[in-house]
Amino acid sequence: METKTIQFIRRGELVSLGNVPPTRTLLEVLREDLSCTGTKEGCGEGDCGACTVVLGEAEDGKLTYRAINSCIRLAHSIDGMALWTVEDLAADDGMLHPAQEAMVHCHGSQCGFCTPGFVMSLFGMYQNHVCQGETITRELAAEELSGNLCRCTGYRPILDAAQTMAHWPAVPVDEADLLQKLKQIAPGARGFQADSSYFSPTTLAQLLSARASHPRRANRGRLHRRGPVGDQDAHAVQQGAGRHPGQGAASHRAL
Ligand code: FES
Ligand code: FES
Repeated sequence: METKTIQFIRRGELVSLGNVPPTRTLLEVLREDLSCTGTKEGCGEGDCGACTVVLGEAEDGKLTYRAINSCIRLAHSIDGMALWTVEDLAADDGMLHPAQEAMVHCHGSQCGFCTPGFVMSLFGMYQNHVCQGETITRELAAEELSGNLCRCTGYRPILDAAQTMAHWPAVPVDEADLLQKLKQIAPGARGFQADSSYFSPTTLAQLLSARASHPRRANRGRLHRRGPVGDQDAHAVQQGAGRHPGQGAASHRAL
């Protein structure tokens, strides 16, 4: 079965992937198709955060950043977005990103298996808070890292890292350039799959139309809601049970 090409921006370049099965997860694509094994698989079901990557999406002319679990995120759902994995943070000359530098400095890693996931959650925090001039409080750090589990270090040094990222030289994303590139991804790239294998409605009207056209698929949960559509009906056909696909781990434990 031929599926629509997935297009996204990574490291400032347009990536196009053809013939990705609609059921393939982003983690499978990263590790098995693109050989990007920096992103780890732990639980494989959205609980541990080892597979965390960050997605950037243009919303109202601005970029929004979300740390998500790539093991429960279907690869087709990142069509039209920007993607960062742990391999994308260090500069070409090897200089570490503040999220990485702070983890090293605070001794936030032992066996290292959870570290790529923590670093990516820290990167999301860096973009959403540090780059906005906000101070990372202990409470904010604990909340934002609540979807990442570590069995080795204890969380104190990782929380310390979150609170000291801002001490390192700033590494901003060129958002104007990225927004421009996201705009250039063909408008037709988002929305409905020509061969009906994968649906990613972007409006409530599209969602209801897809459900009406394919009631059996909707019942089997194959319609994937993308972003807020502002109606409870959207949730009725969302894949999975009541959770935004791949966003935020199921766990919100005290650290
Ligand atoms: S591998 Fe555990 S949340 Fe994805
Ligand atoms: S450093 Fe080993 S699991 Fe976190």
